[in-house]
Amino acid sequence: MKIILLGAPGAGKGTHAKLLVDKYGIPHISTGDIFRANLREGTPLGLQAKAFMDRGELVPDELTVDLVLDRLQAPDCEKGYILDGFPRNLSQAEALTKALNQRGDDIDVALHFVLEEDVILKRMSGRRVCTVCGASYNVNGMMPRVEGVCDRCGGPVVQRADDREETVLHRLEVYHEQTEPIVAYYRELGKEVVVDAGKPLEEVQAELNGILEAYL
Ligand code: AP5
Repeated sequence: MKIILLGAPGAGKGTHAKLLVDKYGIPHISTGDIFRANLREGTPLGLQAKAFMDRGELVPDELTVDLVLDRLQAPDCEKGYILDGFPRNLSQAEALTKALNQRGDDIDVALHFVLEEDVILKRMSGRRVCTVCGASYNVNGMMPRVEGVCDRCGGPVVQRADDREETVLHRLEVYHEQTEPIVAYYRELGKEVVVDAGKPLEEVQAELNGILEAYL
């Protein structure tokens, strides 16, 4: 199953991707997570990406597209993958389609997470993440058992640097300008399936599992 997760920042893509990994055993490829891991390790890619991420801007395509296309060639992607945060503009979407089609391949479905902007802002301001394993929590009822300590790996749980309100507002602007056009792109290709991401976590997950049955 080759899945793309589309939707605004904070719509729940990362949260549900991690649950889908557990259920379907295919890798979760998040460009945001890749950049953050590079930043933690102090690689040149991480340091270059940081400046853009901190401002809520997109990291340039030159640093992003080949990275993902190479990752998709890895053996663990043979049975499928969940792409989260990529593609993020039309040129990335077209590069992905071209690279897959050249191999006689294509994605199966683009799951479009739809959520009201006021709910997004509430979720983003409440989000806390583990700096070691990336597990996501929320002060609105999904906190780790011990405050500030990840349930999964014991790492520190903090607010993401780009989750400050002014940066979130700019990320939403960038989303509307640059990422939203790819929703229409996948709709025209017949790949878009809308997901109501405003429901409680378990209900969203049940909806996703129902949709994905068709692609097993
Ligand atoms: P990235 O890491 O991709 O961030 P994003 O798309 O902005 O997405 P988020 O991780 O903020 O949101 P999400 O939808 O995963 O929400 P989550 O599940 O955490 O990108 C960061 C930056 O990297 C970009 O700004 C850019 O600079 C750069 N970048 C990345 N990819 C790039 C690319 N391809 N090209 C160029 N630049 C790129 O959920 C949010 C909160 O809500 C959580 O706290 C969660 O617990 C909670 N929640 C989720 N679902 C529910 C629910 N159903 N009910 C209640 N709470 C819920």
